[in-house]
Amino acid sequence: MQSITVTAPGKLMLFGEHAVVYGQPCLVTAVNQRMTVELYHDGNKPYEVDLSEIKDARFVSAIIDMFKEKFHLKIGKLHIKTNCGFSGKYGFGSSSAVTTAMVGAMSEIFNLSLNNKQIFDLSYEVVLKVQGVGSGFDIAAATFGGLLYFVKGGQVLENLPLDLNQTCFVVGYSGIKSNTVEIIQQVAQKRAQEPEKFDRIMNAIGELVNQVKPKLLSHDWERVGKFMDFNQEYLRDLGVSNQKLEDLIAAAKNAGAWGAKLSGAGGGDCMIAISGNDKREAIEKAIEKAGGEALNIKMNAEGVKIER
Ligand code: MEV
Repeated sequence: MQSITVTAPGKLMLFGEHAVVYGQPCLVTAVNQRMTVELYHDGNKPYEVDLSEIKDARFVSAIIDMFKEKFHLKIGKLHIKTNCGFSGKYGFGSSSAVTTAMVGAMSEIFNLSLNNKQIFDLSYEVVLKVQGVGSGFDIAAATFGGLLYFVKGGQVLENLPLDLNQTCFVVGYSGIKSNTVEIIQQVAQKRAQEPEKFDRIMNAIGELVNQVKPKLLSHDWERVGKFMDFNQEYLRDLGVSNQKLEDLIAAAKNAGAWGAKLSGAGGGDCMIAISGNDKREAIEKAIEKAGGEALNIKMNAEGVKIER
């Protein structure tokens, strides 16, 4: 019997959500909330897969099928356990983290020596198979970690040399669990209804991502905050914000944040604000007072990792 434990981080979208689905770049960071996959393999036993200890087995099961098909593995008895170090409700990407960790674990236990780009490609293929939509930005964060400039499917994958923890990012949970696939579909309907306006917004978000990238790299945090506000205006126009997110964003800004926006698909999940470290406490309090939950999150986490 062999066993392996692999972890992968969750993610937080900084700039460019939705537009990234339509080919524009985005900026995403891996966060210090990790998903753990434990994989046990007994090659002397006949083929059997035990998924009884996994809540949502769709991704793991699709990975096993894919590995059987692509690598013609001789699989005996597989037993998989997953453990999420964070609640799935926050939208940090538990499915993408479990997918990436499981692909890493399969590579290791069957001596395939897959590199990170191969882990990314296989994980993204699985997510598309199971979920049907998505840019793969969450898989990229789970695989490579750090801060990434990313274009759909990994067409561009740039690890930016910047530690975001030098300044203060406050993350607030809205208390509403959003359904990413549903919101992506609503946005697609918007495109069908108002194609010109839609393209204008998407192009503007893409341009904004390219403009904010050098501001981040030169630590011009206040300016980064302004870009968060601009990005939020476009997301509002796209119809993916809601009153609760707007309340938390306004509360953060009134408490001294340089800028704030929703993070992810919208309709709920989290918002993010940027400020100097001296304002952290006041912003966290303001978010809680406005009915949100302030989360203690660190950015730039390490990507997929073999623990033992
Ligand atoms: C969801 O967190 C971010 C979206 O851009 C979807 C995706 O990129 O897969 C809305």
